[in-house]
Amino acid sequence: MSLCFGVLSLLILFPALVDLLNNGLALKPPMGWLSWGYHECQVDCKNTTVRCLDESLIMSVADHLFNDGYIEAGYEYVIIDDCWSEPQRNEFGQLVPDRERFPRGMKFLADYIHSKGLKFGMYTSLGTYTCKGYPGIRDHFDIDSATFASWDVDFLKVDGCFIKADYLNTGYIDLSRTLNKTGRPILYTCSWPYYIQFIENKMLLVGRGLNPTKGIDSFGWLRLQMVVYAMLPAPLLISCNLDAISQKEKELLLNKDLVAINQDMMAVPAQPFAIDPFLTIWVKPHEPKKGNMNPACSFAVVNFHFRDVTIPFFLHKYAVCEPFTRRYSVMDVLNRTFLKNITSREPIHVTVPSSDAVVYTLFPL
Ligand SMILES: *[C@@H]1O[C@H](CO)[C@@H](O)[C@H](O)[C@H]1NC(C)=O
Ligand SMILES: *[C@@H]1O[C@H](CO)[C@@H](O)[C@H](O)[C@H]1NC(C)=O
Ligand SMILES: *[C@@H]1O[C@H](CO)[C@@H](O)[C@H](O)[C@H]1NC(C)=O
Ligand SMILES: *[C@@H]1O[C@H](CO)[C@@H](O)[C@H](O)[C@H]1NC(C)=O
Repeated sequence: MSLCFGVLSLLILFPALVDLLNNGLALKPPMGWLSWGYHECQVDCKNTTVRCLDESLIMSVADHLFNDGYIEAGYEYVIIDDCWSEPQRNEFGQLVPDRERFPRGMKFLADYIHSKGLKFGMYTSLGTYTCKGYPGIRDHFDIDSATFASWDVDFLKVDGCFIKADYLNTGYIDLSRTLNKTGRPILYTCSWPYYIQFIENKMLLVGRGLNPTKGIDSFGWLRLQMVVYAMLPAPLLISCNLDAISQKEKELLLNKDLVAINQDMMAVPAQPFAIDPFLTIWVKPHEPKKGNMNPACSFAVVNFHFRDVTIPFFLHKYAVCEPFTRRYSVMDVLNRTFLKNITSREPIHVTVPSSDAVVYTLFPL
């Protein structure tokens, strides 16, 4: 299988700035495709056994998102990660896209992506060098921000390799001001928390342990990751070969009821409750159906046991979803079927396969 998965570990939204700016960006977790997880730094386009990071790849991703139902599901950003530039700046100190791999430049790609109704994302790093050793944005905030704006970039991932904590603390904020001055709305995502140890530890579960490229590659793990990302809610950035994606994987990524949990306008993070060290229940309220005052509620059960687990779920035990309404209609989100109508005190018996997750939404009636 081609292993598509969202990328969280290097990509954290910056809620404080988003709140402050109120410029209409990132009200919901961004969705799209990002080159890193699958293509990493594959720059050798002469090697025919790998699919390198180049113009034709990015155009084919835009075509897939446009043609295969991803836009309808909400995926909108096409993001080029590290390894896109020449190793040196030009004589004016500007960044230059790799001349062989991006012969028509980034504005050309931006126009192509925009012509499909999609948005264009790029990458830089706060230090002198990016994580893979290409020129970083340090000492070039103004010139690079102007360059990104002139290429009509809509999203900028800013990494933080090779820099000290004190510079992280000022650099990300200073860069947000420089980007703002360009006047172009650019969704600014920074890897700041990733480089601060205590936050990294709390993220461990999602960023590392579940990464299927690190050896765990069952469909259950993919489903588990998608469910947790939907509930958090985390950015949903696909990183895989869209030419080779299986029908099952695609259905999971395009599951509208699952994506709806992630994209909910209330944006309340799911609360995790540990049942035992290998079993957690996540509970998250979201917008009610039209005309109903009470929130809908989703719950997921995540099973790290090496065996299937069956447990009852009682909605009334989770204050996070108050106020409760009299009756709910219960949907199994993964197969998109309505199971039954219940009160908040009636149990829902769920069975979770080993190393897998299930998720249900309770719609108030
Ligand atoms: C820049 O910041 C101001 C003040 O917070 C905000 O109103 C404006 O929308 C921002 N502009 C862009 C392009 O992000
Ligand atoms: C081509 O890429 C593959 C996969 O990364 C690698 O194993 C192989 O050594 C490369 N071949 C050449 C000629 O560089
Ligand atoms: C959906 O999954 C539930 C178990 O969670 C099962 O009872 C039901 O038969 C499934 N429905 C379909 C259409 O697959
Ligand atoms: C649940 O209630 C709705 C609204 O009253 C009704 O349309 C639906 O048939 C009920 N579903 C079941 C499985 O009883």
